[in-house]
Amino acid sequence: MLLIPLPAWLALGILQLPLGSAQECLSRQQALSAVRQMQKLLAAQEAAHLRGTRGLRNQLSILQSHLQRQPTKRNDTCPQLAVPLNGRMLGRSVRVGHDVHFVCDSGFQLVGSETRSCRHNRTWSGTQPFCRSMDDCSSNPCANSGTCVDGDQSYTCLCPPGWSGPSCQSPIYSYWVTLSNASFSRQPRCAEGRSGSRRCSCDTGFQLRAGGVCQDVDECLLYQSSPQTRICLHDCLNLPGSYRCLCPPGYLLHADRNACEDVNECAGKQHNCTQGDLCINTFGGHRCVRPKCPPPRHNTSYVKTSAFQCERNPCPMESRACLLAATSISFHYLPLQANRTVPRVLFKMSTTRFVGDSLRFAITGGRGQGVFSVRRSDRQTGELLLTSPVAGPATLEVELEMSEFSRKVLLGKHIFKVTVFVSPYVF
Ligand SMILES: *[C@@H]1O[C@H](CO)[C@@H](O)[C@H](O)[C@H]1NC(C)=O
Ligand SMILES: *[C@@H]1O[C@H](CO)[C@@H](O)[C@H](O)[C@H]1NC(C)=O
Ligand SMILES: *[C@@H]1O[C@H](CO)[C@@H](O)[C@H](O)[C@H]1NC(C)=O
Ligand SMILES: *[C@@H]1O[C@H](CO)[C@@H](O)[C@H](O)[C@H]1NC(C)=O
Ligand SMILES: *[C@@H]1O[C@H](CO)[C@@H](O)[C@H](O)[C@H]1NC(C)=O
Ligand SMILES: *[C@@H]1O[C@H](CO)[C@@H](O)[C@H](O)[C@H]1NC(C)=O
Repeated sequence: MLLIPLPAWLALGILQLPLGSAQECLSRQQALSAVRQMQKLLAAQEAAHLRGTRGLRNQLSILQSHLQRQPTKRNDTCPQLAVPLNGRMLGRSVRVGHDVHFVCDSGFQLVGSETRSCRHNRTWSGTQPFCRSMDDCSSNPCANSGTCVDGDQSYTCLCPPGWSGPSCQSPIYSYWVTLSNASFSRQPRCAEGRSGSRRCSCDTGFQLRAGGVCQDVDECLLYQSSPQTRICLHDCLNLPGSYRCLCPPGYLLHADRNACEDVNECAGKQHNCTQGDLCINTFGGHRCVRPKCPPPRHNTSYVKTSAFQCERNPCPMESRACLLAATSISFHYLPLQANRTVPRVLFKMSTTRFVGDSLRFAITGGRGQGVFSVRRSDRQTGELLLTSPVAGPATLEVELEMSEFSRKVLLGKHIFKVTVFVSPYVF
């Protein structure tokens, strides 16, 4: 006998079951079939429930999107955007709160905003982007007839003989050796002695090593690291059987192989000073300068009398400011190697027509004043001294004044504007 308790809500579904009288018992077969029926019923009920919930949820979300879309019925869009030439725009929506993105075709670079958002005041954030060609050769970056090869992100210059550097700007002054055998190890030359002994030797610059191989001697490693045995002034390159000294750009390897000599770029056509500039050769390079007279001020004006000199125009009567101003100004550019020993006379100054009774010299201004001093060397001559070593590269400026007096009355004043270009190297 099996008694099955049934929940009230299932009662309707099992009316056909023979549950009529209380004393009646179900057979095992009947009970099983009743259970199966109930399981089916339960599954059907469950599915119906699910469908109901799903339908409700759908209706809710439709309602929600309706509510959200409400404002767009009023005009809540930003103006249409232009698609950049050679690029694409990602994102179509121009509604408030939406973003659009921009990308460029390969070979082009995006300039401007990558992403723009439609703001609440119906304007776009950022700026309209455009796609710029990445053809880096378009600006002709290779000097000295170098050939420009456009690359992925940058360009490469193929330099003509005699030039090197990323944009073929550096002349090659080192010499090239042709190597008959570019190998750092060679077989020794051996000879059989009469007694059956073997004698082997290596080419110059090679040493016999274990295993009977001639190994190149690294002269750079051996000598260059110590100041006492240094073989190259600047840099050393080991070669099979020998070595080569290297100089930085702007220097020429001297014939004796270990020295670097400055190249005078101003003498050749190796400078890039524009017309009107003066080319000043420095150790390892050059500078382009353009000396300028001071502008007119306090009744005082100057006129350029030569490339490096200005003279005061005649003063208006009774203009004291003009009379006290310098009668002339000259410009001086001095190249200097790094770390020169001190004290060192850099510059001497004197006057050609000395009519007064005394000359006074003074430093009156300029950057880098701390490393200079001025002194008299004789009655008519003054000297600019370097008083402490300067580690280059550096540009130092100093202004000197030479005043001529007669019975303590100022006769005239000359200003020397001195610029010192210090090399990055001690040569
Ligand atoms: C909505 O405004 C934008 C710019 O504010 C305009 O370009 C567009 O034509 C307007 N659309 C309607 C339907 O008014
Ligand atoms: C729109 O709003 C932004 C800030 O969200 C502001 O910078 C911009 O000036 C506004 N533009 C106009 C036209 O009001
Ligand atoms: C050309 O001038 C610039 C500075 O004006 C300098 O940096 C560059 O090295 C110069 N080029 C050469 C070949 O000297
Ligand atoms: C350089 O020398 C090695 C060893 O003596 C030899 O095997 C090689 O063929 C030589 N190379 C050239 C280019 O002569
Ligand atoms: C300029 O010169 C005039 C006379 O020519 C004079 O009166 C005036 O004070 C001068 N100004 C200065 C600043 O010296
Ligand atoms: C110059 O001297 C300073 C200090 O002794 C040193 O640090 C620097 O490397 C030197 N410069 C050169 C180019 O030798």
